Amino acid sequence: MTKAAVCREIGQPLEVVDVEVDAPHAGEVKIRLAASGVCHSDLSVQNGTLLQPIPAVLGHEGAGIIEEVGEGVTDLKVGDHVVISWVPQDGTCFYCTHDQPELCESGLLAMMTGGLIDGTSRFTENGVPVLQMASTGTFSEVTVVPAISAIKIRDDMPLPQAALIGCGVLTGFGAAANTADIKPGDTVAVVGCGGVGLNVIQGAKHMKAATIIAVDKMDHKLEMAKQFGATHTVNAGDGDPVAKVLELTEGRGADHTFEVIGYTATIEQAYNMARRGGETIIVGVPDMEANFPTNGFGIVFGEKTIKGSWYGSSDVHRDIPRYVELYQKGELLLDELISRKIDLTGVNEAFAAMGSGEVARSVITY
Ligand code: APR
Ligand code: ZN
Repeated sequence: MTKAAVCREIGQPLEVVDVEVDAPHAGEVKIRLAASGVCHSDLSVQNGTLLQPIPAVLGHEGAGIIEEVGEGVTDLKVGDHVVISWVPQDGTCFYCTHDQPELCESGLLAMMTGGLIDGTSRFTENGVPVLQMASTGTFSEVTVVPAISAIKIRDDMPLPQAALIGCGVLTGFGAAANTADIKPGDTVAVVGCGGVGLNVIQGAKHMKAATIIAVDKMDHKLEMAKQFGATHTVNAGDGDPVAKVLELTEGRGADHTFEVIGYTATIEQAYNMARRGGETIIVGVPDMEANFPTNGFGIVFGEKTIKGSWYGSSDVHRDIPRYVELYQKGELLLDELISRKIDLTGVNEAFAAMGSGEVARSVITY
């Protein structure tokens, strides 16, 4: 038996209940979680914005210690410290062999079924299967994931900080470092400075962008943005943020703009903040029904690029150990992202705090 936070019904609070966890099947590992971040995508599942078959254990940003390995797992052993990836990257499918492992076909299959790669889950409650968000399910003391989703890290890396790498850092930092084409000296605008947006900002700084304009509607998020590398801030509630960004870029617009909320209105703003020849990277996950209008002539005449960024275009086996190194060199801020540490029963309050924009990240520690 283990405690887990289950989403049973859209729009209802998660229920912390006892579930059974099966032994790992072949090619899987059982992990005792040390920590799980609470990400906006968890809230998006709970409120129905993001499709995930339910009932399911939510949570997809975790780190912990391997407790058991399934048959055929040779590169991980009991006691290894790992960060969990919410996209299993099998290394063999079309996308993995074409340098786009974030789009891995095994990962897509798992995502669609709500289970692990074979479509089944390792959680049951009173004999009834409970699915696992994004083939992970980190709102649980123990989970089972595909071995390819458990990325070994150094033992001296603190696990609550490591957990944040699993989604916020890979998604945000990766959008700047992998998806976008930022060159030293470039100008960047980032709309939305939550847990993911702050990582876009530190990724842009890492890529040596000279000007980083942070846009948010909360002043304390803009203060945090400065700490993460923003050189200018724009409060979106204080006049037209597009006009402000144009003003800060000699009327041209930024070379690279990022939307990190998932609203059509802010996607349009980010698009309009990009200069002619510039690119707009959409990181925030919009509602599945959402379409946003763009002017067809403008996109050609302006030679503009709109690019989606899924999981920060990350190769998790390459990038996770790299982020651990950056943290240990002091070049990746993680401690500063943790607004509060909570226990599993605090997960619904963490959703409320996120909805009101109070926190960068609440982190559940087990
Ligand atoms: N204009 C500017 N900023 C806004 C606006 C707006 N209209 N509305 C919300 N914000 C800001 C909030 O103040 C907050 O700082 O956007 C930020 C969103 O941050 P979080 O709620 O912490 O969300 P986060 O976890 O960063 O995820 C953002 O990225 O990966 C995706 O699914 C994730 O779609 C979500 C997005
Ligand atoms: Zn996430």
